[in-house]
Amino acid sequence: MRKYIVAVGCLITGLLASTPAWVEQFLIIKSTAVELPTGDSLFPGGTSADAINNNCLACHSADMVLNQPSLPRSTWEGEVHKMINIYKAPIDQADVPAIIDYLAGTKGGK
Ligand code: HEC
Repeated sequence: MRKYIVAVGCLITGLLASTPAWVEQFLIIKSTAVELPTGDSLFPGGTSADAINNNCLACHSADMVLNQPSLPRSTWEGEVHKMINIYKAPIDQADVPAIIDYLAGTKGGK
């Protein structure tokens, strides 16, 4: 019984120590080209978008925000505060009104 355990132990050690050639052929790391989807990197609108461009692009894209449905101003206000309070977005308090104006202006309710 003891010999059997030693034999199995040696076998396992041998298997772990050397990677067989037939395994290695599957482990070759190759470079590959990846096409990422393109998207606007900034919020459009020139200077009216400065506040949102300066504060809202650290964690997600402009497109992600612009692809949200149109929402009433109060909902956008809540959204900006959610980013600050829940997600700890480092947003300049002085920019908050301009960000809400921008969102309500471009993605406001009907
Ligand atoms: C600290 C990182 C961070 C910053 C900065 C940030 N967000 Fe977010 N935001 C998140 C996370 C995390 C989510 C939720 C997960 C996801 O969908 O990526 C999110 C989701 C959203 C969503 C989708 C709806 C939702 O509530 O999930 C909107 C709209 C949004 N953010 C707007 C903004 C705006 C506007 C700003 C600037 C005022 C901003 N974000 C800044 C982290 C951030």
